[in-house]
Amino acid sequence: MIKAIRGTRDLLPPDTELWNFVESAARDVFRSYHFSEIRTPVIEDLSLFQRSVGEETDIVSKEMFAWEDRARAQSEKGQWLALRPENTAGVVRAYIENRLWERPGLQKLYYIGPQFRRERPQKGRYRQFFQIGAEIIGPPTAGSESPAVDAEVLEMLATFLDRLGLTGWTLELNSVGCPDDRQRYNDALRAALKPVVGGMCADCRRRAETNPLRVLDCKVPEDQPIIEQLPKILDYLDEPCRQHFAAVRAILDAVSIPYTINPRMVRGLDYYRRTTYEFTHGALGAQNAILGGGRYDGLSEALGGPKAPGIGFAIGEDRLVLTLSEHQRPKLTAADAYIAPLGEGMNQEAARLGRELRQAGLVVDLGDESFRLKKSLELASKTGARFAVILGENEAKSGMLALKNLGTGEQVSVPRAELAKVIAGS
Ligand code: HAM
Repeated sequence: MIKAIRGTRDLLPPDTELWNFVESAARDVFRSYHFSEIRTPVIEDLSLFQRSVGEETDIVSKEMFAWEDRARAQSEKGQWLALRPENTAGVVRAYIENRLWERPGLQKLYYIGPQFRRERPQKGRYRQFFQIGAEIIGPPTAGSESPAVDAEVLEMLATFLDRLGLTGWTLELNSVGCPDDRQRYNDALRAALKPVVGGMCADCRRRAETNPLRVLDCKVPEDQPIIEQLPKILDYLDEPCRQHFAAVRAILDAVSIPYTINPRMVRGLDYYRRTTYEFTHGALGAQNAILGGGRYDGLSEALGGPKAPGIGFAIGEDRLVLTLSEHQRPKLTAADAYIAPLGEGMNQEAARLGRELRQAGLVVDLGDESFRLKKSLELASKTGARFAVILGENEAKSGMLALKNLGTGEQVSVPRAELAKVIAGS
């Protein structure tokens, strides 16, 4: 038997009801903040991710599904392609390629779609997973650098989670400053790690050399007391970055969005500048980040575009649905009516009646003329239909149909013209 590949899974009814509920709530909320949808390709040039997410990150160095796509014709060139591990890089590429900066104001774009990372699968972590994300990007003259934009995005996220009825989330906030700050901080980290790193885990010993920032991501319990004593990035911000972060916090306070400052949260992607954040939830266990995001001023220039500061987020939809399903079990909508055609030739009549009822807005299932009445009624009850409509030759001729309420067992005779109204009204 051929199975779904490791780290991928089928999303089945009734769970898909919950997914659709989450996605339509997202579309609704985002619309009221004047976002529009963007859809970028699932496959991109590998170098897009190397230059944005960063070659040294786990995502690019270990977790990419990438392959060399050989030329199929002389007119084509071979190239390295990748399944997108995230969508910010694709959005910024599209911004540059389609000259979106020529459009007025800020570009407020959202996306919903699958992403791919070859991680070790566990609860809340898959190789194909779904993100609901959004980006605000544009020229500085349109206000893209303003701390008000950061606060608007965070406030929108709080509104969205509230709309879903999700309680118990924590907004963890940090600023990773600008590249100069990061350089000074890295130097300070290296110096502080030197005397203590010998007693830390093997990963930390390696990271202390290659990328000391990643030491802060370490989850090994014995290393935590040492990490707590390391310098904090917030003490290495220059004055403009410090003021920017203070302004973001002041607006969050003004709109009563609670947050905690987490100076250890440095995020696993290289393009971040200044504000970074995650929303976490206790119900998720080890993979507790429902969403993550931050500012990426400088990314457009790094990809050959104009200056276009931006900020955004991506919600892990799988994790969000997991958290919600602890409280609400999705239910499938039942059919309003199951039409039971009785006898040869009645499928045509059933198709006609089904069409009438559906055009009147009802949800309808059709039986088959070869079924006995008992079987039709059993099937209708099992699938949860509210009514069965019995349609034999006599009923078709007389225009009086037998309508059976499958909840009460009561059966009445209803003129065809009134059938939809009777079903809808009860
Ligand atoms: P990220 O933190 O890499 O950020 O991913 C965002 C969210 O996607 C995570 O918080 C998590 O909920 C979910 N996620 C990540 N990997 C997996 C996985 N293997 N299985 C299930 N869920 C996963 C980004 O992707 C950035 N592009 C966010 C962003 C947008 N920053 C600025 N704009």
